[in-house]
Amino acid sequence: MENIKRRLCGAIVTLIICIIIYSEAQPNCISPAKQCGCEQRDNKFIINCRDKNLTQIPIFDNTSIQYEELTFSSSYPDTSKCSVCNRITSIPPRAFVNLNVKRIDLTKNALTYISNDSFAGVEPYLKELLLEGNEAKEPNYAALKNLTGLTKLHLEKFQQTTLNSNNIFEYLQNLEFLKLKTLKNLSFIDSAAFQNKVRKLKTLWLDDLPLKKYPVKAVLNIPSLQELHFINSPVTELYSMSFKDLDNLNVLDLSNNDIDSIDDNTFEGVNDTLLSLNLSDNNLRFKTRETLSFLSSKSWTKLEELRLSYNKFDALPNGPFRTMSNLRNLTLESCQLPSISSGLLQGLQNLHTLEVSQNRITNISIDAFVHTPQLKVLNLDQQNKDFIKRLAINFPAEAVKSIRTSLTHLHLEQNLVNVSQIWEIIELLTNLEKLKLRSINLVTIPDFVFRYHTQLQDLDLSENQITSFDQKSFHGLKDTLNSLTLSNNNLTTIDECVFKNFSKLNYLYLTGNMWNCDCHLLWLYDWIKNKMLTHPYIEYMVECVCQSPPRLSEKYIQDVNRSDLSCIPVYIPYRCPDYYITTTITTTNSTTTPKPLPVFRIFIAEVMIFSINVFWTIDDKSDVTGYVLSIVDLQNTSRKSLTNLHRDNTRFKLKGLQPQRTYNICLQVELNNILNQNLISCVTQSTKSVPAFELFKKTISDTYI
Ligand SMILES: *[C@@H]1O[C@H](CO)[C@@H](O)[C@H](O)[C@H]1NC(C)=O
Ligand SMILES: *[C@@H]1O[C@H](CO)[C@@H](O)[C@H](O)[C@H]1NC(C)=O
Ligand SMILES: *[C@@H]1O[C@H](CO)[C@@H](O)[C@H](O)[C@H]1NC(C)=O
Ligand SMILES: *[C@@H]1O[C@H](CO)[C@@H](O)[C@H](O)[C@H]1NC(C)=O
Ligand SMILES: *[C@@H]1O[C@H](CO)[C@@H](O)[C@H](O)[C@H]1NC(C)=O
Ligand SMILES: *[C@@H]1O[C@H](CO)[C@@H](O)[C@H](O)[C@H]1NC(C)=O
Ligand SMILES: *[C@@H]1O[C@H](CO)[C@@H](O)[C@H](O)[C@H]1NC(C)=O
Ligand SMILES: *[C@@H]1O[C@H](CO)[C@@H](O)[C@H](O)[C@H]1NC(C)=O
Ligand SMILES: *[C@@H]1O[C@H](CO)[C@@H](O)[C@H](O)[C@H]1NC(C)=O
Ligand SMILES: *[C@@H]1O[C@H](CO)[C@@H](O)[C@H](O)[C@H]1NC(C)=O
Ligand SMILES: *[C@@H]1O[C@H](CO)[C@@H](O)[C@H](O)[C@H]1NC(C)=O
Ligand SMILES: *[C@@H]1O[C@H](CO)[C@@H](O)[C@H](O)[C@H]1NC(C)=O
Repeated sequence: MENIKRRLCGAIVTLIICIIIYSEAQPNCISPAKQCGCEQRDNKFIINCRDKNLTQIPIFDNTSIQYEELTFSSSYPDTSKCSVCNRITSIPPRAFVNLNVKRIDLTKNALTYISNDSFAGVEPYLKELLLEGNEAKEPNYAALKNLTGLTKLHLEKFQQTTLNSNNIFEYLQNLEFLKLKTLKNLSFIDSAAFQNKVRKLKTLWLDDLPLKKYPVKAVLNIPSLQELHFINSPVTELYSMSFKDLDNLNVLDLSNNDIDSIDDNTFEGVNDTLLSLNLSDNNLRFKTRETLSFLSSKSWTKLEELRLSYNKFDALPNGPFRTMSNLRNLTLESCQLPSISSGLLQGLQNLHTLEVSQNRITNISIDAFVHTPQLKVLNLDQQNKDFIKRLAINFPAEAVKSIRTSLTHLHLEQNLVNVSQIWEIIELLTNLEKLKLRSINLVTIPDFVFRYHTQLQDLDLSENQITSFDQKSFHGLKDTLNSLTLSNNNLTTIDECVFKNFSKLNYLYLTGNMWNCDCHLLWLYDWIKNKMLTHPYIEYMVECVCQSPPRLSEKYIQDVNRSDLSCIPVYIPYRCPDYYITTTITTTNSTTTPKPLPVFRIFIAEVMIFSINVFWTIDDKSDVTGYVLSIVDLQNTSRKSLTNLHRDNTRFKLKGLQPQRTYNICLQVELNNILNQNLISCVTQSTKSVPAFELFKKTISDTYI
């Protein structure tokens, strides 16, 4: 007893010592203002004053704790409709004195007053400052003068008419990031505004400034610049040499302006430094070949990303991107493109992602992708979105031959397509990981179409009119398929063999179908119940709502009793067919590798009066050892004959038949000397009748003999 007490005491003492040591090493996350909370992120402390209904900056306790950030911003996109958002309008003198904080965020407050001394006392610590005004007052630049350690400054919604050469930036020698956003009435930036001032500036945002012209000289005076965003302006033209001496520029974002004209030499000097160019949301047109020559007249040795979305490229020159051999991402969303011609992607030997959704593509050339052997992601969603003509896309399977092994993501949602072309394409693209086929009017899934797909994880077939499928439909995906979306189709049941042994299936979406909850869905009931043990939310995802029988109507399948899922006559479980060949490879180790069954089919070649010629196709003959051909006279089913055929046969003439009789002809495959029950293909065919002329001859001879 004594011993236990002593040990217990020992443990408690150790615990206390541990707590003391621990709390010395790691201070507790405590907010220095009672109105705010303290949040820990990556072992750093954040004073969180978001959405605390504050109208003034709180008084902070004296503390020696070091904080990463103090934020008064908001998580609401629109603060005008929010009752808990802060509404701080002024920063009093010495508001943050003695606070050891690196970043202060006052965005989403409409500041009207900033004292000269607002930041006194926080200068040694402050690195990043974000301020937002009410669009009526100038920011008080004098208050920032002593913040010489600042590396990041964000000023938004202030009133200012010009930015001249005599300004605050000469004091902010350490600034690396500057964002000037929505400065009302700013019509002029002096060419010396940044000259010899912000020598370490890497990133500049000039966002939503009402400048009529791009401020060429002011920006050229920042040679350290690596990233420039000049966006949301009314600028319409870019002139020659606009970026010439910006030798470090990697990212150039000129999106959301009104640019309709770009001089051929605009990008002179940065054509070999840029990694990313964004010209989305402008007024560029491909109407005349010249308008794109600013791209093809230069070689862009490093460019990896080009965004041109939301322009109007309704006529296309050949090879507009041919000088961009390192381009990886090309974005041409919503550009009114009419086709992917054989010349469009010329030269893009490293293209990885092509985003061409929301265009008007009706024709994809068979040579469209011969230039892009590395293409992984192709997004062709919504080609009819705001297009009056409802034309199906002509997408020949031949077009994907050159990207057969590279393509991993294919998006074809909400399109009018030739469904048989699409399935031919899918059959070829055996390395697909993600396939989006929502809303393209599918009714069936061809047998074995996924049999060679060894990577497919995510398949979306929602909003189609699929009425049924079976084990052959998803055959091949049992070890990879993780997410399957079948919502909003015309399904009533799913055979229990379909997803048998699908070891990776975790997400199954079934809502919006007319499920018939009887014994055939017992497997689904058990699958959901079993998944619920580890994925409690699975039931909200699957959403299998019973439509029939009437007594179960509108109920979620997992909410009924298992015994309610009944059938008459009673359900007898059966063995699912095995569509794999299991070959035992006896090398040093004996391993069994299941491989898909070959796909084969019998066809009629020729029909005559006394004979029928048949032929067959089989995609993989390596395990075939022979065939058995059977023929049954359907008028007299006892008349049946069998013929054994050699593995090299591909056709056969069935002779000695009778005229105008119907026969059922079946061919069964023998694999490794065993007749396979699942590899049988049948046709029903009638022989020709004896023509009237022959009958006449026959009648005459009958009469005369
Ligand atoms: C913080 O400490 C200073 C002296 O170091 C003192 O003047 C001030 O009143 C203290 N403030 C608070 C809120 O405790
Ligand atoms: C926010 O503060 C005001 C007073 O400043 C008060 O009238 C209002 O009820 C508060 N709103 C909420 C949601 O606490
Ligand atoms: C704030 O500083 C500016 C510039 O240094 C000065 O002109 C102004 O008078 C100061 N304002 C106050 C209230 O001290
Ligand atoms: C800036 O720092 C100088 C020198 O430390 C000091 O004299 C001045 O009062 C400070 N100005 C402001 C606005 O804090
Ligand atoms: C700013 O522009 C608005 C119109 O856009 C005008 O009404 C206002 O007077 C201007 N303010 C200044 C200070 O120029
Ligand atoms: C333009 O591209 C740049 C670089 O990728 C990106 O940072 C920026 O968000 C893009 N702008 C828009 C409006 O998409
Ligand atoms: C940039 O374009 C100019 C003009 O075409 C060319 O002389 C220069 O070599 C180009 N730079 C690169 C790297 O292509
Ligand atoms: C290119 O696109 C891929 C998606 O396909 C994306 O993950 C990647 O970040 C993009 N690269 C750039 C530089 O934007
Ligand atoms: C589609 O492109 C092919 C060339 O790839 C061309 O022969 C055919 O005329 C085009 N069809 C339409 C409708 O533009
Ligand atoms: C659809 O595609 C198939 C297969 O490529 C082709 O045989 C058929 O003619 C196409 N149908 C239409 C209407 O274009
Ligand atoms: C699928 O269901 C819809 C609505 O119930 C119906 O209009 C459509 O004809 C059905 N499609 C098929 C292929 O059964
Ligand atoms: C045999 O098994 C060992 C260990 O499982 C493996 O490392 C080796 O590659 C196998 N050899 C063959 C020929 O499959």
